[in-house]
Amino acid sequence: MASLAPTTDPSEDPTPAELLAGRHNLKHHAMDGLMLDGVPLARIADVVGTPTWVYSAETLRHRYRTLTAALKDAGLEAQPHYAVKANDHLAILATFAREGAGADVVSEGELRRALKAGIPASHIVYSGVGKSARELRLALHEDIGQINVESAEELAMLSAIAAGMGRIARIALRVNPDVEAGGHEKISTGRATDKFGIAFDAAAALYAHANTLPGIRTVGVATHIGSQILDLAPYRDAYLRIADLVRTIRAQGFRVETVDCGGGLGIPYRGEAAPSPAGLAGAIAGAFHNLDVRIALEPGRWLVGPAGVLLASVVLAKQTPTTRFVVLDAAMNDLVRPAMYDAWHGIVPVAATDAVAATSPCDVVGPVCESGDTFARSRALPALAPGALVALLDAGAYGAVMSSSYNARPRAAEVMVDGETWTVIRARQTHEDLWAHEVVPIP
Ligand code: LLP
Repeated sequence: MASLAPTTDPSEDPTPAELLAGRHNLKHHAMDGLMLDGVPLARIADVVGTPTWVYSAETLRHRYRTLTAALKDAGLEAQPHYAVKANDHLAILATFAREGAGADVVSEGELRRALKAGIPASHIVYSGVGKSARELRLALHEDIGQINVESAEELAMLSAIAAGMGRIARIALRVNPDVEAGGHEKISTGRATDKFGIAFDAAAALYAHANTLPGIRTVGVATHIGSQILDLAPYRDAYLRIADLVRTIRAQGFRVETVDCGGGLGIPYRGEAAPSPAGLAGAIAGAFHNLDVRIALEPGRWLVGPAGVLLASVVLAKQTPTTRFVVLDAAMNDLVRPAMYDAWHGIVPVAATDAVAATSPCDVVGPVCESGDTFARSRALPALAPGALVALLDAGAYGAVMSSSYNARPRAAEVMVDGETWTVIRARQTHEDLWAHEVVPIP
C-alpha cells in the first residue's frame, strides 16, 4: 500500500495544496497562515511552543457521525467501539463518549481511561492476545460489555477467574479468518501465522466448548484483520467467512447475537484511493444482512487520524554536498510512524508566504541521533528558515500514544481546537517530569 511502502516515487507526491484540498478542517488563510478549523496554528505555536499535537474536535464529531450514518444507511444495527489505542487522550475519549461511542480497549490502562472519560462499562469491549489475570478480574469487576477471547488457553483462564468471582463473562471468540490485509507487515493481523485470534477451523468447536464452561456466556464472534486497509476485498472475504462460521455455530444449536467486525479502515495519507465508511458498511451488510446479528466495530485510525496534526518548527536548514536537510524540533520520539513503518505523512508549511513559495526537494528530519529519524525524503518544500512552522498531517492516530522520551526529550504538548476556541489538553512535559520517579542509590 502506497502510504506505507518503503519506497515511494517523490515525483508522485501530492503537493501541499492537493493535500489541503482533501482535508476540510485545514485551510490556508492569507494573513493567518494554516488554520485548523477556526484557529491559526501559528497562534498555538506562539503560546504553547512546538512540537505540539493539535486535534480538531469538530473533525472527531464529524467523522463519528459520518461512520454511524453510513452504518444506519446500510440497514445495520451497529455500535462503534472506538479503538482507544489510536489516541487515548481523555479529551478525545470524552468527545466520542458524548457522541455515544463505545470503546475497544487492550489493557488495564485503556480500560481505566475509557471509564474515566465517561464511556459506560456496558459499551466497552476488551481485545488483546495477552490479557493478564489482573486485567480480566478488573474487566469482570467493572462488568464490561464483552471480552474478546483470543485462545483456548485464555478461555480456560477467564472461566476459572469468572467462576471464582461469581461473575459471568460475556465473550466473543476472536477468530482469525486467515486473510491478507493491511498496509504493512507489522500491522497485518488476520493471517494464519499471526499471533492473533483463534484459528478459523477451531472456532466452532471452541464456541461449543465455551458453552460448557462455568462463568462464561457466549455472545458472538469477533474478527480484526489488520490496519490501514485500503481495499474492501479482504474485508468482504473475512466477513463472508465469519458469516459462514455464524451459520455453523447456529447449526450446532448455539446463539450468536453479535459480530464484532474489528477496525482497520485506512485513510489516504498520500492521496491514495481509500474506501469510505459506506463501502465498509456495504461489505458488512453484504455478509450479515440476513443473519439477524448486532454489529460491533472497532475503528481507530479512521476516526482520529485526519483530526490531528503535529505542529513543528524548523531548527535549521542544513545543506550537505548531496542533500538539503530541513531539521525540525519534532522527532521520531514524537511521531514514530515514518521510522517504524516507512509511513508517509503530508508536511505543509504553516506561513501563507511559505505555502506559495517555489519548492525544491529536501529531507525532513528530526534531531534524534539515528538516521531513522527521518520524516520524509526528497519532499518538495520551499526554503524554510529557522523558526518556520510546518504541520505534519494525519497525526491524530498512533501519534502521541506511540511517542517516547528517547534522547531525554520531554513529551510534546497537546491542544484541542473546537471551532474558534482551543484548549491545552496536555501540558508539555518538563525535564523535571522526566526524572521525577528516578532514584539514584546512595553509594
Ligand atoms: N481492533 C483491534 C483488535 C486492533 O488490534 C486494532 C489495531 C484496532 C481495532 C484498530 O485498528 P485501526 O482502525 O486503527 O486500524 N501503530 C500502527 C497501527 C497498529 C494497529 C494495531 N491494532 C500504525 O501506526 O499504523
